[in-house]
Amino acid sequence: MSESTITHVVVPGTFDPVTLGHIDVIRRARRLFPKVTVAVAASANKHGRGTAFTLEERVEMIRDALAGEGLPPDIEVAPFTGLLVSFCAEIGAGGVVKGLRAMTDFEYELQQADLNSHLSPGLESVFVMSSPEFGYVSSSIVREIASTGSDVSILVPSNVNERLLTHYRRA
Ligand code: PNS
Repeated sequence: MSESTITHVVVPGTFDPVTLGHIDVIRRARRLFPKVTVAVAASANKHGRGTAFTLEERVEMIRDALAGEGLPPDIEVAPFTGLLVSFCAEIGAGGVVKGLRAMTDFEYELQQADLNSHLSPGLESVFVMSSPEFGYVSSSIVREIASTGSDVSILVPSNVNERLLTHYRRA
């Protein structure tokens, strides 16, 4: 196992769409590590369904949100296909940072962390406990509320709220 200090981490996810909970995790990852890349998965989410927003839309929403929320401009946002461990190797990231909300997240995250560590020994998985005010926020809850035409500005960055209103008005 490499003993070198980890300076570059990835915050991966489907981000369909990015929420204030995600922004909180990205912000905190950047406090812990000097270089952070937000990795946006091209494929379907953990429930095996397609995404509401295209990969390009999800990447663009995150970039706009990071700027709007005042995060450091050195945080990169990049799409990826295939395995997360391959993407980390490609960009030279030594760790993966994810947020943990309730116990319900734990089993799924542990399974992914174990698998990633098996596929790429030495790749570190780091978890930050979600801030209490975001413990109940998820992309699926955001989509469910927004699909009724309701405002979700307490759950998502303002650019995402606007995008959701247009998206579901059109749908
Ligand atoms: O936002 P999510 O659904 O929690 O993100 C899950 C994600 C995208 C991080 C995970 O599904 C992933 O890493 N997908 C890429 C494919 C992969 O590497 N699979 C093996 C680990 S589960």
